[in-house]
Amino acid sequence: MQVSELVSGIAPSPTIAGSTKAKQMQAQGLDVRSFAIGEPDFGTPENIIEAARRAMAEQKTKYTPAAGIPQLRQAVCDAALRDIGVEYSPSQVVVSNGGKHALMNIWRTLLNPGDEVIMFAPYWVSYPEQVRLCGARHVGIVTSGDDDFQPDLDEVRAAITPRTRAILINSPSNPSGAVFTQATMEGLAEIACAHDLAIVSDEIYKHLLYDGRQHLTTASMGEELKNRTIIADGVAKTYSMTGWRIGWLIAPPEFAKAAENLQSQETSNPNSIAQWASVEALLGPQDSVAEMRAAFAARRDYLVPALNEIPGVKCPLPGGAFYVFPDISAHLGRELQGQVVATSVDMELYLIEKALIATVAGGPFGTEGYLRLSFACSMEDLQEGVKRLREALA
Ligand SMILES: Cc1ncc(COP(=O)(O)O)c(C=O)c1O
Repeated sequence: MQVSELVSGIAPSPTIAGSTKAKQMQAQGLDVRSFAIGEPDFGTPENIIEAARRAMAEQKTKYTPAAGIPQLRQAVCDAALRDIGVEYSPSQVVVSNGGKHALMNIWRTLLNPGDEVIMFAPYWVSYPEQVRLCGARHVGIVTSGDDDFQPDLDEVRAAITPRTRAILINSPSNPSGAVFTQATMEGLAEIACAHDLAIVSDEIYKHLLYDGRQHLTTASMGEELKNRTIIADGVAKTYSMTGWRIGWLIAPPEFAKAAENLQSQETSNPNSIAQWASVEALLGPQDSVAEMRAAFAARRDYLVPALNEIPGVKCPLPGGAFYVFPDISAHLGRELQGQVVATSVDMELYLIEKALIATVAGGPFGTEGYLRLSFACSMEDLQEGVKRLREALA
């Protein structure tokens, strides 16, 4: 059967491929330690599960408005006011099947064929592919661990063309865990205003910030920037609800209305029970978020120094999310156990086959010479993983 040109050009997600391979090897009885997975290893908090049970018992099982139940759209606004101090109305919120779907709705609503989106490498693997599905293209600006993955603003200015429509910000970032500084945010905000660009702000990791950091977003930098910023967010990472598939966009009213029309023809509403559970997630007790954050912080504080002790590994300290993105370029080009390891993808394969540790290569994130490791796993796994990595690179 013929596949369309657009879809046949789409690359499969390498992060999903990495964790699937690890699971397959584990199912064969191999003691694979996986650092490939992008989801918290905690259960969904009980109050959220209970809200879902209640929704089912009350037969909240029918179609909802395409953009989500009014209670959840309002809860998203209440949470935005609480968390970033910005006032929105429910008509500015479209609830979708996860943050990934919210982002796809944003690109579809924003981009015409030939348009360009500036994004900062290392970037989440889905962004370029989603943009490509709109017939648009991404323009990657490479950042380095040596600069804490902060972009060079002059490079951003130089990358702007008449086709540039948006700058994508993902802070804290997947895959680097980097958090943009106030100066970076202000610089990008100024560029967006000067060139009449939208800012797409993927804030899915905003509650996972360490060392007392406060979340920064261009949405809270005054009225003009609020109207230029489209937020993508969701419950997956903050409340350990990856499987529930609830995310949302927040945008100026006319943009949100257009995205709602798109979603009404495409998928209709996201799951009704998961929407009710998400109201509880956003408005119920938030203690579990603090507990999860503290556990992640302790793991990060073990992992980063341990990685930096391995010769030829340079690991910046991530300010947020649950990933580290060490520079392993000193080991590329080596022959390890009879295998030439030329690229980060070769390194990923070498590590899973010879050391039974699953990581994700940095290359597909737009930066060669790095690996992504998730620390959403037990401390014991981290200790064993570091030991195996040290031996494999010796
Ligand atoms: C940077 C980033 N944005 C968005 C998402 C989408 O999350 P979900 O679709 O699970 O809500 C992810 C998930 O891995 C992510 O890492």
